Amino acid sequence: MVNTHLLVSDAEHFRIDYEINPYMSTANQPDSGVAVAEHDAIVEAHRSAGRTVERMSSAPGCPDMVFTANAALVRRGRAVLGRPPAARADEVEHYRRWLDRRGFEVIEAPYAFSGQGDALPCGDILLAGSGWRTDPRMHEFLRRSLGYDVVPLHTVDRRWYDLDLAVAVIGNPHTLAWCPEALDRPSRDRIENLGLDLIEVSRGEAEHFALNLISDGDTVTMTRSAPRLAAELRSRGLHVVELSTTELAKGGGGVRCTALTLDQR
Ligand code: ARG
Repeated sequence: MVNTHLLVSDAEHFRIDYEINPYMSTANQPDSGVAVAEHDAIVEAHRSAGRTVERMSSAPGCPDMVFTANAALVRRGRAVLGRPPAARADEVEHYRRWLDRRGFEVIEAPYAFSGQGDALPCGDILLAGSGWRTDPRMHEFLRRSLGYDVVPLHTVDRRWYDLDLAVAVIGNPHTLAWCPEALDRPSRDRIENLGLDLIEVSRGEAEHFALNLISDGDTVTMTRSAPRLAAELRSRGLHVVELSTTELAKGGGGVRCTALTLDQR
Protein backbone atom coordinates (compact mmCIF):
# COMPACT_ATOMS: atom_id res chain seq x y z
CA MET A 1 0.00 0.00 0.00
CA VAL A 2 1.11 3.56 -0.67
CA ASN A 3 -0.15 6.93 0.53
CA THR A 4 -1.01 5.56 3.96
CA HIS A 5 0.82 8.29 5.89
CA LEU A 6 0.09 11.88 4.91
CA LEU A 7 0.98 15.39 5.99
CA VAL A 8 -1.74 17.96 5.53
CA SER A 9 -2.16 21.57 6.59
CA ASP A 10 -5.42 23.53 6.68
CA ALA A 11 -7.36 26.05 4.63
CA GLU A 12 -7.59 28.74 7.34
CA HIS A 13 -5.38 31.16 5.42
CA PHE A 14 -6.20 30.00 1.90
CA ARG A 15 -6.66 32.99 -0.41
CA ILE A 16 -5.73 34.07 -3.92
CA ASP A 17 -3.25 36.89 -3.27
CA TYR A 18 -1.22 36.37 -6.47
CA GLU A 19 -1.56 34.47 -9.74
CA ILE A 20 1.15 31.89 -10.36
CA ASN A 21 -0.88 29.40 -12.35
CA PRO A 22 -3.61 29.86 -14.96
CA TYR A 23 -6.40 28.74 -12.63
CA MET A 24 -5.76 31.51 -10.11
CA SER A 25 -7.44 34.90 -10.33
CA THR A 26 -7.34 37.43 -7.51
CA ALA A 27 -10.83 38.44 -8.68
CA ASN A 28 -12.13 34.96 -7.85
CA GLN A 29 -11.61 34.36 -4.13
CA PRO A 30 -12.51 31.10 -2.39
CA ASP A 31 -15.34 31.16 0.13
CA SER A 32 -13.38 30.66 3.30
CA GLY A 33 -15.95 28.57 5.17
CA VAL A 34 -16.57 26.33 2.19
CA ALA A 35 -12.82 25.89 1.63
CA VAL A 36 -12.28 24.81 5.23
CA ALA A 37 -15.19 22.35 4.98
CA GLU A 38 -13.81 20.98 1.70
CA HIS A 39 -10.41 20.42 3.25
CA ASP A 40 -11.90 18.84 6.40
CA ALA A 41 -13.88 16.43 4.23
CA ILE A 42 -10.72 15.39 2.39
CA VAL A 43 -8.93 14.71 5.69
CA GLU A 44 -11.93 12.79 6.97
CA ALA A 45 -11.95 10.66 3.80
CA HIS A 46 -8.26 9.80 4.31
CA ARG A 47 -8.96 8.73 7.89
CA SER A 48 -11.98 6.65 6.84
CA ALA A 49 -9.74 4.91 4.31
CA GLY A 50 -7.43 3.97 7.18
CA ARG A 51 -4.65 6.44 6.35
CA THR A 52 -2.64 8.16 9.06
CA VAL A 53 -2.93 11.92 8.73
CA GLU A 54 -0.59 14.38 10.39
CA ARG A 55 -1.45 18.04 10.50
CA MET A 56 0.65 21.17 10.52
CA SER A 57 -0.98 24.57 10.90
CA SER A 58 -0.88 26.95 7.99
CA ALA A 59 0.76 30.30 8.60
CA PRO A 60 -0.82 33.70 8.03
CA GLY A 61 0.89 35.23 5.03
CA CYS A 62 1.19 31.81 3.34
CA PRO A 63 -2.11 31.64 1.42
CA ASP A 64 -1.10 28.51 -0.55
CA MET A 65 0.04 26.46 2.42
CA VAL A 66 -3.00 24.23 2.14
CA PHE A 67 -1.10 22.62 -0.78
CA THR A 68 1.49 20.64 1.20
CA ALA A 69 2.34 18.39 -1.74
CA ASN A 70 4.78 21.05 -2.88
CA ALA A 71 6.64 21.00 0.45
CA ALA A 72 9.06 18.19 -0.39
CA LEU A 73 9.57 14.73 -1.81
CA VAL A 74 10.01 12.17 0.95
CA ARG A 75 11.56 8.70 0.77
CA ARG A 76 12.94 6.40 3.47
CA GLY A 77 13.66 9.01 6.10
CA ARG A 78 14.91 11.64 3.68
CA ALA A 79 13.08 14.72 2.48
CA VAL A 80 14.21 16.85 -0.44
CA LEU A 81 12.61 20.22 0.24
CA GLY A 82 10.62 21.98 -2.44
CA ARG A 83 11.89 25.25 -3.86
CA PRO A 84 8.72 27.04 -4.99
CA PRO A 85 8.13 30.29 -6.88
CA ALA A 86 9.01 33.46 -4.92
CA ALA A 87 5.38 34.08 -3.92
CA ARG A 88 5.44 30.84 -1.89
CA ALA A 89 8.99 31.09 -0.54
CA ASP A 90 7.87 31.79 3.05
CA GLU A 91 6.31 28.34 3.30
CA VAL A 92 9.63 26.55 3.01
CA GLU A 93 10.90 27.38 6.49
CA HIS A 94 7.74 25.95 8.05
CA TYR A 95 8.13 22.69 6.15
CA ARG A 96 11.82 22.48 6.93
CA ARG A 97 11.16 22.84 10.65
CA TRP A 98 8.32 20.32 10.67
CA LEU A 99 10.26 17.67 8.75
CA ASP A 100 13.40 18.27 10.78
CA ARG A 101 11.54 17.96 14.08
CA ARG A 102 10.04 14.70 12.82
CA GLY A 103 13.51 13.29 12.35
CA PHE A 104 13.71 13.42 8.57
CA GLU A 105 17.07 14.14 7.00
CA VAL A 106 16.15 17.39 5.27
CA ILE A 107 17.95 18.06 2.01
CA GLU A 108 17.95 21.45 0.33
CA ALA A 109 16.98 21.51 -3.37
CA PRO A 110 19.71 23.25 -5.39
CA TYR A 111 17.27 24.33 -8.13
CA ALA A 112 13.60 25.16 -8.55
CA PHE A 113 11.58 22.16 -7.41
CA SER A 114 7.84 21.69 -6.99
CA GLY A 115 8.24 18.82 -4.52
CA GLN A 116 5.84 15.95 -4.91
CA GLY A 117 3.76 18.11 -7.28
CA ASP A 118 6.32 17.29 -9.98
CA ALA A 119 7.53 13.97 -8.63
CA LEU A 120 5.23 10.95 -8.55
CA PRO A 121 6.74 7.75 -7.15
CA CYS A 122 5.58 4.51 -8.76
CA GLY A 123 7.52 1.75 -7.03
CA ASP A 124 11.20 2.48 -7.66
CA ILE A 125 10.35 4.68 -10.60
CA LEU A 126 9.89 8.41 -10.22
CA LEU A 127 7.70 10.09 -12.80
CA ALA A 128 9.24 13.54 -12.78
CA GLY A 129 8.07 16.72 -14.43
CA SER A 130 10.11 19.78 -15.30
CA GLY A 131 9.80 22.95 -17.27
CA TRP A 132 7.34 25.02 -15.25
CA ARG A 133 8.09 24.65 -11.57
CA THR A 134 10.97 22.21 -11.55
CA ASP A 135 14.41 22.70 -13.06
CA PRO A 136 15.35 19.65 -15.18
CA ARG A 137 18.63 19.41 -13.26
CA MET A 138 16.58 18.31 -10.24
CA HIS A 139 16.02 14.93 -11.87
CA GLU A 140 19.63 13.84 -11.50
CA PHE A 141 19.66 15.31 -8.01
CA LEU A 142 16.61 13.24 -7.01
CA ARG A 143 18.10 10.11 -8.53
CA ARG A 144 21.23 10.53 -6.47
CA SER A 145 19.68 11.70 -3.22
CA LEU A 146 16.64 9.40 -3.09
CA GLY A 147 17.68 6.51 -5.33
CA TYR A 148 14.84 6.58 -7.83
CA ASP A 149 14.94 5.61 -11.51
CA VAL A 150 13.74 8.88 -12.97
CA VAL A 151 11.38 9.02 -15.95
CA PRO A 152 11.50 12.64 -17.18
CA LEU A 153 8.21 14.02 -18.44
CA HIS A 154 7.22 17.33 -20.03
CA THR A 155 3.76 18.78 -20.06
CA VAL A 156 2.75 20.92 -23.03
CA ASP A 157 1.44 24.06 -21.35
CA ARG A 158 0.98 25.96 -18.12
CA ARG A 159 -2.36 24.36 -17.35
CA TRP A 160 -0.22 21.40 -16.32
CA TYR A 161 2.26 23.45 -14.32
CA ASP A 162 2.71 20.50 -11.96
CA LEU A 163 2.80 16.90 -13.18
CA ASP A 164 0.21 15.83 -10.61
CA LEU A 165 -2.45 17.52 -12.74
CA ALA A 166 -1.67 15.34 -15.76
CA VAL A 167 -0.67 11.94 -14.34
CA ALA A 168 -1.86 9.90 -11.34
CA VAL A 169 -0.48 6.71 -9.88
CA ILE A 170 -3.37 4.38 -9.06
CA GLY A 171 -1.19 1.44 -7.99
CA ASN A 172 -1.64 -2.26 -7.38
CA PRO A 173 0.28 -3.55 -9.16
CA HIS A 174 0.99 -0.58 -11.35
CA THR A 175 -1.81 1.28 -12.93
CA LEU A 176 -1.44 4.83 -14.13
CA ALA A 177 -4.16 7.27 -15.10
CA TRP A 178 -3.06 10.03 -17.41
CA CYS A 179 -4.09 12.68 -19.88
CA PRO A 180 -2.00 11.95 -23.01
CA GLU A 181 -2.81 15.36 -24.53
CA ALA A 182 -1.12 17.09 -21.61
CA LEU A 183 2.27 15.56 -22.45
CA ASP A 184 4.67 16.04 -25.33
CA ARG A 185 5.37 13.19 -27.76
CA PRO A 186 8.60 11.85 -26.19
CA SER A 187 6.95 11.87 -22.76
CA ARG A 188 3.94 9.97 -24.09
CA ASP A 189 6.25 7.39 -25.61
CA ARG A 190 8.09 7.03 -22.32
CA ILE A 191 4.86 6.41 -20.43
CA GLU A 192 3.60 3.94 -23.01
CA ASN A 193 6.85 1.99 -22.80
CA LEU A 194 6.79 1.54 -19.04
CA GLY A 195 4.68 -1.61 -19.29
CA LEU A 196 2.06 -0.24 -16.92
CA ASP A 197 -1.68 -0.55 -17.18
CA LEU A 198 -2.81 2.86 -18.49
CA ILE A 199 -6.14 4.62 -18.05
CA GLU A 200 -6.75 7.57 -20.37
CA VAL A 201 -8.42 10.68 -19.04
CA SER A 202 -9.88 13.39 -21.26
CA ARG A 203 -8.47 16.89 -21.26
CA GLY A 204 -11.83 18.17 -20.02
CA GLU A 205 -11.80 16.02 -16.90
CA ALA A 206 -8.09 16.58 -16.33
CA GLU A 207 -8.67 20.35 -16.37
CA HIS A 208 -11.16 19.76 -13.60
CA PHE A 209 -8.44 18.14 -11.50
CA ALA A 210 -9.51 14.55 -12.21
CA LEU A 211 -5.94 13.31 -11.92
CA ASN A 212 -5.13 15.25 -8.79
CA LEU A 213 -6.17 12.26 -6.69
CA ILE A 214 -4.80 10.10 -3.92
CA SER A 215 -4.90 6.34 -4.30
CA ASP A 216 -3.60 3.75 -1.86
CA GLY A 217 -4.34 0.94 -4.28
CA ASP A 218 -7.71 0.12 -2.72
CA THR A 219 -9.41 3.45 -2.18
CA VAL A 220 -9.14 6.40 -4.54
CA THR A 221 -9.94 9.81 -3.06
CA MET A 222 -10.72 12.24 -5.85
CA THR A 223 -12.76 15.19 -7.04
CA ARG A 224 -16.46 14.96 -7.75
CA SER A 225 -15.81 16.76 -11.05
CA ALA A 226 -14.62 13.74 -13.03
CA PRO A 227 -17.43 11.17 -13.18
CA ARG A 228 -15.98 9.29 -16.15
CA LEU A 229 -12.69 8.57 -14.44
CA ALA A 230 -14.55 7.66 -11.25
CA ALA A 231 -16.69 5.14 -13.14
CA GLU A 232 -13.64 3.66 -14.86
CA LEU A 233 -11.86 3.19 -11.52
CA ARG A 234 -14.94 1.57 -9.99
CA SER A 235 -15.22 -0.83 -12.92
CA ARG A 236 -11.70 -1.97 -11.98
CA GLY A 237 -12.81 -2.85 -8.48
CA LEU A 238 -11.46 0.20 -6.71
CA HIS A 239 -13.37 1.94 -3.95
CA VAL A 240 -13.83 5.53 -5.11
CA VAL A 241 -14.68 8.46 -2.86
CA GLU A 242 -15.64 11.64 -4.72
CA LEU A 243 -15.42 14.97 -2.95
CA SER A 244 -16.20 18.56 -3.74
CA THR A 245 -13.08 20.60 -4.62
CA THR A 246 -14.60 23.80 -6.02
CA GLU A 247 -12.73 26.17 -3.67
CA LEU A 248 -9.35 24.45 -3.91
CA ALA A 249 -9.75 24.62 -7.69
CA LYS A 250 -9.58 28.42 -7.46
CA GLY A 251 -6.01 27.99 -6.26
CA GLY A 252 -5.25 25.58 -9.09
CA GLY A 253 -5.28 22.47 -6.96
CA GLY A 254 -7.26 19.46 -5.85
CA VAL A 255 -7.07 16.46 -3.54
CA ARG A 256 -3.50 15.36 -4.35
CA CYS A 257 -2.06 18.85 -3.80
CA THR A 258 -3.32 18.97 -0.23
CA ALA A 259 -1.23 16.07 1.08
CA LEU A 260 2.45 15.25 1.23
CA THR A 261 3.11 11.51 1.33
CA LEU A 262 5.38 10.47 4.23
CA ASP A 263 5.24 6.68 3.74
CA GLN A 264 8.22 4.81 5.03
CA ARG A 265 8.94 1.43 3.57
N1 ARG B 1 -1.73 27.81 -5.91
C1 ARG B 1 -0.75 26.76 -5.77
C2 ARG B 1 0.44 27.06 -6.65
O1 ARG B 1 0.28 27.55 -7.71
C3 ARG B 1 -1.35 25.44 -6.11
C4 ARG B 1 -0.42 24.29 -5.90
C5 ARG B 1 -1.04 22.98 -6.23
N2 ARG B 1 -0.17 21.89 -5.98
C6 ARG B 1 0.04 20.85 -6.78
N3 ARG B 1 0.75 19.87 -6.33
N4 ARG B 1 -0.38 20.81 -8.02
O2 ARG B 1 1.54 26.81 -6.30
